[in-house]
Amino acid sequence: MPYQIVALPGDGIGPEIVNGTLEILEKLSNSYNFDYQLEIHDFGGIAIDNHGSPLPDNTLSACERADAILLGAVGGPKWADSKLRPEQGLLSLRKSLELFANIRPTKVTKSTSHLSPIKESRVTGTDLIIVRELTGGIYFGEPKRWDETSALDSLTYQRSEIERIARIAFELAQKRTKKLTSVDKENVLSSSKLWRSVINDIASDYPDVEVNHLLVDACAMHLITNPAQFDVIVTENLFGDILSDEASVIPGSLGLSPSASFSSQGPRLYEPIHGSAPDIANQDIANPYGMLLSLVMCLRESLDQSHAAEQLETIIYQCIEQGYTTKDLNGAYRTSEIFKIIKDKL
Ligand code: NAD
Ligand code: IPM
Ligand code: MN
Repeated sequence: MPYQIVALPGDGIGPEIVNGTLEILEKLSNSYNFDYQLEIHDFGGIAIDNHGSPLPDNTLSACERADAILLGAVGGPKWADSKLRPEQGLLSLRKSLELFANIRPTKVTKSTSHLSPIKESRVTGTDLIIVRELTGGIYFGEPKRWDETSALDSLTYQRSEIERIARIAFELAQKRTKKLTSVDKENVLSSSKLWRSVINDIASDYPDVEVNHLLVDACAMHLITNPAQFDVIVTENLFGDILSDEASVIPGSLGLSPSASFSSQGPRLYEPIHGSAPDIANQDIANPYGMLLSLVMCLRESLDQSHAAEQLETIIYQCIEQGYTTKDLNGAYRTSEIFKIIKDKL
C-alpha cells in the first residue's frame, strides 16, 4: 500500500517551502523505492478565500485518511481583522486529530555553531527537544470571550492530559540522556501546581530518568545562557509555543526549526515551527530548512524511511555548513536555489 500524504501549503511563505519540499520527497521516493499518493489541499487563509472556512471538510477528511500531513504555515495580514482566522483552522486540525504531542528539536552542530547569534562557546553541544502539549491549556479552555471592556481566556488542564504528555516526554528522555526538565509557573498558576504534581507522580514509573522542575521565566533565561544543559523539556501549550521560538534562535534562525505532532494513533503532522512570514513572502528568500527537517522527521516516523531521512539530514547540515543559506542566516541564496542544490546532491 502506498503511503497517503496530504500537503497543506497554506499562506505566505508556506507554498514556497512546501512545493520545493515535495520535489525532494519525489526524488527520494524514486531513489529509495517507496510509493506514496499525494493530495494537496487548501488550508488557512487561502481556504477562507476559496471555501469560506480555514479548515474545509474536504481538507479535514483528507487529513483524517492520511498517514502523514506536511504543513507549511498559515495566516497573514489579509485575514488579521476577519471574523474567520487562518490560525483557527490550525487549532481545529490539531484538536480534531488529537495531536496532543508536539516535538520541537533544536540542535547546534559543530560545523554550524558559528551561525548562532550567541557566543559559540555557549551554544556548542546544544541538542534539546521541547515536548509541547498541543491540544490543551489556554488555547482551548472555555469560557473564552472578549468585548471592548473586558476579556477572558481560561487555562484548564485535566490530569489525564498532563499524564499522557508526561509519558511521551519520559519515554523520549529514556531513549536519550535520561534528563527531563519540566517547565511550569507553579509559583503562580493552579494549572502549573497540578502539572508539577502529575509530573512527579509519573516520574515514579521512570526511575532511571532524572527530573528537574524549572519556572518558565527562569527557563527562558537558562535557554539562552546555557542551552547545552538541556535534553528533553516538557511543558504546557503556551509556554512551549514561546520557548520553542526562543530556542530556534540558538542555531541561528527561526527558519531552521522543524516539528512533528502526534496523537496516540492516527496521522502525524509535520510542520516548521515558524509562521507564514508575510514580510518576506513571494520573494524567494524563505529559509527552507525548517520545512525540510520536518520532512526528515516525517520520513523517519511516518514513512519508515530511515535511510532516506539520514541522507537528507546529512545533506541539509552539509549545505548549511557550506553556506548555502538564505538572508536570515546572512546567506545570499534564494529558496529555489537551495532546493535545486539539495536535489543535485541527492
Ligand atoms: P513568523 O514566524 O511568520 O515570522 C517571524 C519572523 O521570522 C519574521 O520576520 C519572518 O520573516 C521570520 N521568518 C519566519 N520564518 C522564516 C523562514 N522560514 N525564513 C526566513 N525568515 C523567517 O511569525 P509572525 O510574523 O508573528 O506571524 C505571521 C503569521 O503567521 C501570523 O498570522 C501568525 O499567526 C502565523 N503563524 C502561523 C504558524 C503556523 O502556521 N504554524 C506559526 C506561527 C505563526
Ligand atoms: C505555532 C503557531 C501557532 C501556535 C499559532 C499560529 C496558532 O504559533 O505553531 O507555534 O500558537 O501554536
Ligand atoms: Mn508559535
